[in-house]
Amino acid sequence: MTRPKTKILVDGGDPQETLRAKELLGFVDGQTTNPSLIAKNPHIKELIASGHKLSGREEMDEYKKIVRTISPLVGDAGVSIEVFSDEKTSAQEMFTQGQEMYSWIPNAYIKYPCTAEGLRAAQISVKQGIRVNMTLCFSQQQAAAVYAATRGTREPAYVSPFVGRLDDSGQNGMDVVKNIKQMFSKGDGHVLVLAASIRSLEHLLYCFALQTELATVPSKILELWASKNLPMPDEHFQYKASGKPIPYEELDLGQTWESFDIQHDLTRKGIEKFAADYRATLARPA
Ligand code: E4P
Repeated sequence: MTRPKTKILVDGGDPQETLRAKELLGFVDGQTTNPSLIAKNPHIKELIASGHKLSGREEMDEYKKIVRTISPLVGDAGVSIEVFSDEKTSAQEMFTQGQEMYSWIPNAYIKYPCTAEGLRAAQISVKQGIRVNMTLCFSQQQAAAVYAATRGTREPAYVSPFVGRLDDSGQNGMDVVKNIKQMFSKGDGHVLVLAASIRSLEHLLYCFALQTELATVPSKILELWASKNLPMPDEHFQYKASGKPIPYEELDLGQTWESFDIQHDLTRKGIEKFAADYRATLARPA
């Protein structure tokens, strides 16, 4: 098989899925997790079903066990671990969690949301040599802010545009990926595009065609790709978008992150959902 240039990450919270994907593809470059996926991990679900809700500390310990099992299964794209946050969580609180999570495994990337506090936490993190993956990205402006906030990082930072959730809102989510790639082609290469919220084989094939550096893919889409013998897009490949096009914006990557318009309703909703799924596993919701 010709391995795609795009690194393939498993989007999930169950190490068994990572193993299965590795068996099917022969490799897995990395993994992304998030609070909703961790709440769906079979062991966590069993605990909750048996009436055992977790303390905040227990939740962190379970999360650590999960990523420690996944860590040796994947390649150099690492394992992304997401901080627990809501609209009130400060940059310092996110960073404190991020620091602890970063110590769990040697190949960690810490996920912070594309919000002002998340960008501040990323800025502190990269100065301390902590690798970051900026999540819940829905716009080119947010990606430009990630670029500015992580300038000077020793290792590449990831930005994760969420394709499927933009599609769900009636827009062409892949346009954001395409626009960010175009914008970064004029940059210094310190931010890599990790296409996320992938819902279909067409999304994945278009990521290959656009040569996104990474894509995180649910195991059922990887299974579908494998069942079709791992097709790659040829030069005639055309992505069939159904949503409203998202136009390219001319942005100056030399500006500070504060100068970009980072507000996005889907980022706010995404944080609310992650926080709700996290709280549902807790005995005494924070
Ligand atoms: C990965 O980093 C994201 O958390 C994930 O792709 C979100 O996918 P969803 O929109 O299907 O929840």
